[in-house]
Amino acid sequence: MDNMKVDYLPLKRITAMHADEIHEAIDHVVDGGWYLKGNATETFEHDYAEYIGTRHCIGVANGLDALTLILRAYIEEGIMREGDEVIVPANTYIASILSITENRLVPVLVEPRVDTFLIDDSLIEQHITPRTRAIMIVHLYGRCAYTEKISEICRRHVLKLIEDNAQAHGTMCYAVTPYRKTGSLGDAAAHSFYPGKNLGALGDAGAVTTDDDHLAATIRSIANYGSSRKYVFDYVGRNSRIDELQAAVLSVKLRYLDEDNLRRKEIATRYIDNIINPLIRLPEKTESVWHIFPILCEQRDRLQQYLADKGIGTVIHYPIPPHKQSCYSEWNEQSYPITEIIHSQELSIPCHQAMSDSEVDYVIQQINNFA
Ligand SMILES: Cc1ncc(COP(=O)(O)O)c(C=O)c1O
Repeated sequence: MDNMKVDYLPLKRITAMHADEIHEAIDHVVDGGWYLKGNATETFEHDYAEYIGTRHCIGVANGLDALTLILRAYIEEGIMREGDEVIVPANTYIASILSITENRLVPVLVEPRVDTFLIDDSLIEQHITPRTRAIMIVHLYGRCAYTEKISEICRRHVLKLIEDNAQAHGTMCYAVTPYRKTGSLGDAAAHSFYPGKNLGALGDAGAVTTDDDHLAATIRSIANYGSSRKYVFDYVGRNSRIDELQAAVLSVKLRYLDEDNLRRKEIATRYIDNIINPLIRLPEKTESVWHIFPILCEQRDRLQQYLADKGIGTVIHYPIPPHKQSCYSEWNEQSYPITEIIHSQELSIPCHQAMSDSEVDYVIQQINNFA
């Protein structure tokens, strides 16, 4: 096979798959002259809530705001207060943790399992103290982090279960019957529609989903300057809204999300069945929307350079764990060995709906040739 160029995530190509409908949706908003809190937002919120399987969806400015607003609303409701603790996986993207510290709550980091990359539910209980108020699970890389055990711990200790669903739009959870989607499993869930996500906007956008009527109303108000009636302010709020353009684009892309996820699953299956290289550890074949296809390699940096030389783009999710970041210097001396293994060995290879079979085959062949 000749040298090919396989980009990690070619957003231009992904957008082009539905370019006509996207342009039409944008034109409709531009020509309509209504740019915030209008029909496009209402339609997307309705359709996304229905898709996830919750009573409410509140469109907000981005995924970090979605997480931050959930915690802030619990503080306003008197369910949490400054200094309370929130359990969170140690290997998550920094935004999960930022939402906790932003609210002057205390993140309690718990190790993931190296085979799933998800929070290790057998380690959670030992971290619970009288100040624990919530467990934030992160459906990292597109896999479902919810387990019956986590749900049972939440019930027994009266904790809120918050889902960070930034990376798992459309993932099914088979640990509940009837099966439900991630984003509908806990008390509230945050979603990011950052352009690179499975359901990606053409800019920043996010949402909260929940079945809790009161929480939904509180979040909607805080995100709108603290106001639910014009010029009347109940909270010291902020401005965090999805705009009409992004909502309209997301409604178009939502129609194709299951199809897109199916293509990602096909690619992931092909990788798992055909990549054979003793230097590489493949992820388990499990339910996932494969936001990321993570492989582990002790010689990760050499592998990344080798693939770059072959024209294949890759990304590391993530090169420095949160507890080693200088913004959280108080944790820098702490040790989270599983998290550190993942951060030092993980490499994400291309896996998206616009990929052709020949690109997939090329990636497989080059990885199999890595020595
Ligand atoms: C796990 C996780 N949580 C939260 C976020 C934050 O979302 P956003 O970039 O929309 O603020 C992201 C994405 O960037 C993420 O991957």
